[in-house]
Amino acid sequence: MVWLNSSHWECIYTNKAENEVSWFQENPILSLELIAQVGATPASAIIDKGGGASRLVDNLIDRGFEDVTVLDLSEAALEAAKARLGGRAAQVHWIVADATVWEPLKAYDVWHDRAAFHFLVEDHDRAAYVARLERALKVGGYAIIATFALDGPERCSGLPVVRYDPVSLGQTLGRAFQLVDTRRHAHATPWGSDQSFQFSVFRRRS
Ligand SMILES: C[S@@+](CC[C@H](N)C(=O)[O-])C[C@H]1O[C@@H](n2cnc3c(N)ncnc32)[C@H](O)[C@@H]1O
Repeated sequence: MVWLNSSHWECIYTNKAENEVSWFQENPILSLELIAQVGATPASAIIDKGGGASRLVDNLIDRGFEDVTVLDLSEAALEAAKARLGGRAAQVHWIVADATVWEPLKAYDVWHDRAAFHFLVEDHDRAAYVARLERALKVGGYAIIATFALDGPERCSGLPVVRYDPVSLGQTLGRAFQLVDTRRHAHATPWGSDQSFQFSVFRRRS
């Protein structure tokens, strides 16, 4: 199953340009706003889980962040981001891994996930993700998790997703995570349709 999932994403990032995928964002404004809101500084360790070829990493480097990690199942996605960044790519930690089996080697201050967690449709995969979140996020650190909202699409990229509101997402993450903020967001795809997202911010309390 992992192999099938991996080849699905590899195929997409190999065959489509950055702005030919529905999740493309020219500027990840809300993610940056929430990262600033949780008090992240250039010294904060930030991981973008399922970051793909997102431009969030470019923006973090531009703002002086010195400890940025991007993890994704697809090597082609990370290669696209590296090519765009050129020499600046060397400032980033790149990890090709499945978020449900990855073994974190350090703890982060901020965990960001836009439109990756919602692809985990099996209980055991969600539990594996949360176990890694618990290990890889410092106590007092923040998880910013964006998924399709309850009125968002039921599928993305040909795959089923689980849609959330802040309450159901909080229940999925468990008692170690306290909801501190949530926003609704209408993402405009490159072809002009809107997709309803929720962005929720959780503080790890224990
Ligand atoms: C819809 S894209 C979003 C990419 C990026 N977060 C963004 O906002 O542009 C979903 C991403 O999740 C990645 N992904 C899917 N399942 C994954 C898994 N189990 N582990 C790590 N990455 C995964 C895909 O390769 C893809 O890059």
